[in-house]
Amino acid sequence: MAKILVTGGTGYIGSHTVVELQNAGFEVVIIDNLSNSNIGVLDGIEKISGIRPTFVEGDVTDLDTLRNLFEQHPGIKGIINFAASKAVNESVEKPLKYYRNNLVSLLNLLDLMPQYGVEGIVFSSSCTVYGEPDVNPIDESAPIKTATSPYGNTKQIAEEIITDTIKAGAPFKSILLRYFNPVGAHPSAEIGELPLGVPQNLIPYLTQTAAGVREVLTVFGNDYNTPDGSCIRDFIDVVDLAKAHVIAMKRMLDSKDSDSVEVFNLGTGNGLSVLQLIESFERATGVKVNYKIGPRREGDIEKIWAEPAKANNILGWKANVDIDDTMRNAWRWQKKISGLS
Ligand code: UD1
Repeated sequence: MAKILVTGGTGYIGSHTVVELQNAGFEVVIIDNLSNSNIGVLDGIEKISGIRPTFVEGDVTDLDTLRNLFEQHPGIKGIINFAASKAVNESVEKPLKYYRNNLVSLLNLLDLMPQYGVEGIVFSSSCTVYGEPDVNPIDESAPIKTATSPYGNTKQIAEEIITDTIKAGAPFKSILLRYFNPVGAHPSAEIGELPLGVPQNLIPYLTQTAAGVREVLTVFGNDYNTPDGSCIRDFIDVVDLAKAHVIAMKRMLDSKDSDSVEVFNLGTGNGLSVLQLIESFERATGVKVNYKIGPRREGDIEKIWAEPAKANNILGWKANVDIDDTMRNAWRWQKKISGLS
């Protein structure tokens, strides 16, 4: 089967996607600069899928590195572009880092794709492009709102860059995948999320608190206009999410349209509050989470969840891992990396 380049393939969503691509028979080449992951992830991928993917350590923002990769690994048919910086707060402090990492890398890929006969690119976008929705669940036709962080802006601009490039006649296709909130880990506990430093996202903070690495989880606000006052999100299991990439890649490579851009929401269609998620974790694992209610976090969206009908109907993909199972997998992974039994 076809050879696929996965940028950021040792990262959280990237590593789970590499496993699913290999399980589906694709040959994978990873490029990653290991800025937010480590080489040991390849062992986890190999243990699960039985195959060690080809790995190139390098930075996608460096055009020569990328050109070398295409020369040395001829025949790449598709790209999945995960390589990007993703911390919302940091992006406010270091906008240029975000614009450079997230956009120069994309420009380099789009520049080289025609030269090396790459037929399509799947792009990691985010529900952050919708801002605070006027209605929930939110579908793909909803307006794009002004981004509230440079991180969010890079996702919007990247979607536009890809769309404009294809509209101008570039000989490849693209599928833009708007992720809601990816959580969990592979059920084998061989791969999962590996945040560097203090986690900014809810689940790694929660599991680290349960493991005793952090003292207390702060719930950012319980005075929102939601049933229990905490924010609502659409938490999507990372393995479900990874599988959507395989389907998207097959669809893109099979499609006869040489100039298509499609966009899909990837979520469950169910909104869950932060407090409900904590309850789910406690119910699924039997472990109590030490948490307290704190002030709102600046820039947070009150509630957002996906209308995933387009992905369900057109991709034939549906999220099906139960949230309690997702929480059990997240906990199994946290125990493993914390050395707990
Ligand atoms: C953010 C980004 C999203 C990005 C994702 C991954 C926005 C609006 N969203 O999602 O695009 O893909 O990060 O980096 O830019 N929470 C707590 N305590 C904590 C941590 C989080 O209560 O210690 C709450 C937050 O207030 C929020 C929910 O948990 O209501 C989810 O937060 P988080 O995991 O950080 O994801 P988002 O902010 O939804």
